[in-house]
Amino acid sequence: MVHSSTMTVLETSPVPRHVAIIMDGNGRWATQRRLPRTAGHMRGVQAVRRIVEACGRRGVRYLTLFAFSTENWRRPASEVSLLMRLFVRTLEKEADRLREQDVRLRVVGELSAFDDRLRNLITQVEEHTAKCQALTLTIAANYGGRWDILQAMQAMLKAHPDLATQPQAISETLLSPWLAMSYAPEPDLFIRTGGEQRVSNFLIWQLAYTELYFTDCWWPDFNEASLDQAFHWYSQRERRFGRTSAQLSGADA
Ligand code: FPP
Repeated sequence: MVHSSTMTVLETSPVPRHVAIIMDGNGRWATQRRLPRTAGHMRGVQAVRRIVEACGRRGVRYLTLFAFSTENWRRPASEVSLLMRLFVRTLEKEADRLREQDVRLRVVGELSAFDDRLRNLITQVEEHTAKCQALTLTIAANYGGRWDILQAMQAMLKAHPDLATQPQAISETLLSPWLAMSYAPEPDLFIRTGGEQRVSNFLIWQLAYTELYFTDCWWPDFNEASLDQAFHWYSQRERRFGRTSAQLSGADA
């Protein structure tokens, strides 16, 4: 069973169990080098590989990456199409390596917007890695936090039509199993690279008590040392989940 930060005080550990990342700054990384933005995305894939491996070595159990948001369709068509091709190529290339590293791949989002080839490939790689246990790597693709809450509500009402006539019976416990990432605990640590300080419609339900870390580092430059800096910052946080500091230190039970 997955615990909720608003219903219980979650257990914490020095290394985050679930890390969620907005990989921002690919375009600026490329522009600064007079390269097309797409070159930044290609370098971004290398950073993905590095960070997946580094998280595995550090004992992180869940890593969730925001690869494409419901709002990213507003980008130029050429960039959207490159991102899709990159996604396909990366899945094809990395499937075996993921399994060797005991990494289970899952993809969440409104996948019906993708073409058959990409959807089939996602299913294949999910099945290929289904028994892997060390790390669950979730790629959020055509994902939006508001989409997630709405689709969860719709799916719940479809399964329990009676709830529509007794809305007061709707609870967090009834709704949360329908969220796209109901298999994972809430993120302990959120990282956003690229200097912006916003959540951009990522996992908005699940980030309720997540520690938020922002860095100016552009995603293609984000490496193992950058991850360690974020983990060090995280290890210094006092996670109170609504309690007081005195309660945590045992001075005031
Ligand atoms: C944000 O940078 C990044 C994205 C919208 C795409 C992220 C995709 C990758 C890292 C590559 C594909 C990933 C996988 C998992 C195969 P930006 O373009 O908004 O950068 P900017 O803010 O500097 O313009």
